[in-house]
Amino acid sequence: MRALAAPCENCLRQHNRRLMNSNRPLWTTRMLLVTLAMAFGAVPSESVNAQSVPHLTILQPGGMPGSPVMTGVGRVTNGVSVTWDGPPGAYQLFQKRSLKDASWQAVGAASLLRQATITSLTSNAFFRVSGPTPQYAGAATCAECHAEVLNTVVHTAHFGAFSNAVFVAKGGQTNSSCLPCHTVGYHLPTGFANQSATPQLAGVQCENCHGPAANHAANPIDPTAIPRVEVAATLCGGCHNTQFVPALAASYHPPYYEEWNASPHQSVLAELKADFAGSSGTSVFIPTCGRCHSGTVREAFLEDTPLPNAQEASAVGIACATCHDAHQVNVFTNVLSGVITNPVTGGVVVSNGPVGGTYTTQLRNPLSSVLDYHVTGDFTTNYNPAINVCAQCHNDRGPSYKDTSRPPHNSPQYNMLIGTTGVLDPNNPDVPHFQPGSHALFITNQCVGCHMQTAPSAGPNQPPTAGHHFQIDNNYSVCASCHGSAANASNTVVFVQGLISGQIQTVQASLVNWATNKAPAILGTADYGTRAWEYTTPGELSPGGPGPNTAQQGLIPLNIKMARFNLYLVFHDASFGVHNPLYSLALLNTAQSMVETELKK
Ligand code: HEC
Ligand code: HEC
Ligand code: HEC
Ligand code: HEC
Ligand code: HEC
Ligand code: HEC
Ligand code: HEC
Ligand code: HEC
Ligand code: HEC
Repeated sequence: MRALAAPCENCLRQHNRRLMNSNRPLWTTRMLLVTLAMAFGAVPSESVNAQSVPHLTILQPGGMPGSPVMTGVGRVTNGVSVTWDGPPGAYQLFQKRSLKDASWQAVGAASLLRQATITSLTSNAFFRVSGPTPQYAGAATCAECHAEVLNTVVHTAHFGAFSNAVFVAKGGQTNSSCLPCHTVGYHLPTGFANQSATPQLAGVQCENCHGPAANHAANPIDPTAIPRVEVAATLCGGCHNTQFVPALAASYHPPYYEEWNASPHQSVLAELKADFAGSSGTSVFIPTCGRCHSGTVREAFLEDTPLPNAQEASAVGIACATCHDAHQVNVFTNVLSGVITNPVTGGVVVSNGPVGGTYTTQLRNPLSSVLDYHVTGDFTTNYNPAINVCAQCHNDRGPSYKDTSRPPHNSPQYNMLIGTTGVLDPNNPDVPHFQPGSHALFITNQCVGCHMQTAPSAGPNQPPTAGHHFQIDNNYSVCASCHGSAANASNTVVFVQGLISGQIQTVQASLVNWATNKAPAILGTADYGTRAWEYTTPGELSPGGPGPNTAQQGLIPLNIKMARFNLYLVFHDASFGVHNPLYSLALLNTAQSMVETELKK
């Protein structure tokens, strides 16, 4: 999916020639000294990871910084680690051993990394780093070789960020506190100055996200000038926040970054980081778990680039660019408008109004879908871009009642919402079904409709709510349109969650009853006690030790296997019935009757 315009091979050759005809050294003449000295003794000796990850570590209004910024000096086992961040390019670190030192001494060689470890130390060293002078070009310059990307980027709201009528009306075009995020490289050498001098740098463009790229455009094979490609949320977060926006404009700048940063998507789970690290680069954990648990792994799959190593796989959570398409707006069909048919039987399920047939959004995937979906096997053959953006990961991963090693994963929300997973008919457990509730069919943006509640600013200087916590806002106002009032919705949640929790306990108690009174004889062992109905690695309902081993799993009756499967699907859905109330109840009732059949034997 790497998009380079076809004639680029030619232009590359031309640039090659241009390069060979010039006797200008590659980058040294472009060096700009940026003095950011730091006294080592005065900095708390926090430990910095010597192999720091090359992702953007700082939030900078404007996105990718145009010049280097020191980010840390700290002790590591073999010396001191100095880190900085900045645009693509080669950097040179310099040190002064004391204030009296007359000159700065270069430390080590120039390098593309934004980190250096110094082993020969004096106690009060000062550091500064020099990097390339920012050279901004403007998006038109990229057209020669990246026409395909440019053609989509020009249709995003980013390009119009300077000419936006509201921005103009608010006086943004001439207000220096607004320009860093609405233009390219504001206030830096070669960056945006004003509308008449630098019209080509108005709006948010390529170089806000990739850093100054004129040197790269002039010489694309120069490895020191290759623009950065950043998927971490710090890139978008530099602009999509409230913290760097003047207070008077806060009421129309939603805190996307701040909310996301406090959300469960912010980072990779510690348990997964350990899984990634505990194995080599070809680890099964990286491709199988990383596709849903890591922003960099998912990006590699989507862009068809090599899978990252363990450290990279752990570096970025579910970030902005994981869900959003940084380069384009996509047009989607609202599958919940018009007639919805049952994909299993072909029959009409419901006829919604034809409103909102299509919509555009800067997302990689649509907001709703009704086709069953499970992530399994090879990513590229099984990826379906037409599935609901949340369901890309919040799906059941294709488990079966026949599984014996562990319960279905914690993520079956989508399949529960549309009522396709689990056993409804013990005599025909493999017959597919489709039993969506009203929440799947009438909420036109499905998961997003409940989990990403937005709200306008509550008053002057107050930021709006961006909906990027992803958690249900327990004021329930988003439910009021259908449930009459927020209080009504709240009451039904209490009622339904109580009912479903109670039924979960009932089914579990029956399974324990079976384990205690029926299982030992069948399994030939009393080792497992109340866990005799469980998977080999039991789920959270049965803490305390393992369940029957692989061979013994063969002795567990099918009814018990189907019952525990249903039980864990409802339990791991974690909405306790809200996603699909009647369906959740049906799964649990079926489970209960299957256990009762075994108890009667
Ligand atoms: C003369 C041709 C040319 C022009 C002009 C050009 N590029 Fe490139 N660009 C390339 C080539 C070739 C590569 C692939 C380099 C590589 O991967 O080694 C590339 C790669 C990139 C990458 C991806 C780097 C990566 O790691 O995958 C970005 C981002 C990029 N260019 C941005 C820009 C921007 C922004 C502009 C305009 C300011 C621009 N380019 C202008 C030829 C060009
Ligand atoms: C240089 C600052 C800057 C950076 C960096 C930036 N954005 Fe934006 N973004 C803006 C501005 C300003 C707008 C509003 C443009 C307008 O409507 O006039 C915007 C608009 C958007 C919109 C459309 C909003 C709408 O109402 O249609 C989306 C989606 C978006 N950005 C996502 C992202 C993502 C994802 C990233 C990171 C990959 C990102 N942005 C990086 C400044 C930025
Ligand atoms: C820290 C970066 C930043 C600064 C500083 C900033 N903006 Fe924005 N602005 C954004 C982003 C990001 C968006 C897109 C927000 C969204 O999704 O609606 C935006 C959107 C806007 C919009 C479009 C809102 C809409 O609903 O269409 C206007 C108008 C605007 N900004 C005006 C201003 C003005 C005026 C200032 C200075 C007083 C300013 N901005 C300063 C980042 C910034
Ligand atoms: C809002 C931020 C943003 C803007 C604006 C932007 N990019 Fe990107 N770009 C990204 C992100 C994030 C990625 C990596 C994820 C992806 O490919 O979606 C990327 C990836 C790339 C790549 C490498 C792989 C690919 O997808 O082709 C190239 C080349 C590139 N961008 C060039 C450009 C050019 C040229 C422009 C301007 C015409 C541009 N980008 C504008 C954020 C941006
Ligand atoms: C289809 C996407 C997907 C795949 C593949 C996936 N997961 Fe998950 N996983 C999720 C989602 C989504 C959640 C969060 C669900 C929730 O908390 O309700 C989650 C939650 C978890 C949790 C936290 C459970 C808890 O108690 O909060 C762990 C641990 C976990 N996954 C481990 C793994 C491992 C190990 C793998 C690979 C063997 C893996 N996952 C593969 C989507 C996936
Ligand atoms: C888990 C997926 C996900 C992640 C992660 C995510 N978003 Fe969103 N974002 C969405 C969805 C879904 C919408 C609603 C889009 C719609 O209704 O068209 C949205 C809406 C937006 C909008 C308003 C767009 C519009 O068209 O009105 C902006 C701006 C935005 N997100 C920026 C960000 C930024 C910045 C980050 C990272 C800090 C981020 N998002 C992270 C899924 C995500
Ligand atoms: C790329 C995969 C991915 C996508 C897309 C995604 N999620 Fe998640 N989500 C996860 C993972 C993995 C976790 C578990 C992370 C953790 O617990 O730290 C999670 C956790 C959550 C949680 C918290 C669960 C808990 O037990 O606390 C909620 C709520 C959630 N996601 C909602 C959403 C919504 C709504 C969307 C769509 C807008 C969405 N997610 C899109 C992967 C994803
Ligand atoms: C009718 C509104 C609604 C819809 C639609 C909806 N949810 Fe939920 N969801 C809830 C409620 C309410 C809870 C329970 C929250 C609680 O008890 O704190 C919940 C719980 C969850 C949880 C567990 C959160 C936690 O904190 O443990 C996840 C994950 C989740 N939903 C993801 C999704 C996904 C993914 C979709 C779409 C496939 C979706 N939801 C659709 C209302 C909804
Ligand atoms: C588009 C309309 C709509 C929205 C929005 C909506 N619901 Fe519902 N909800 C319904 C309908 C209709 C039912 C009846 C049961 C069914 O058909 O699945 C229902 C059923 C329920 C039930 C089961 C109890 C009962 O009365 O049957 C709960 C609990 C519930 N909704 C909670 C919520 C919560 C919480 C939200 C907001 C986070 C919400 N709903 C948003 C339409 C909606």
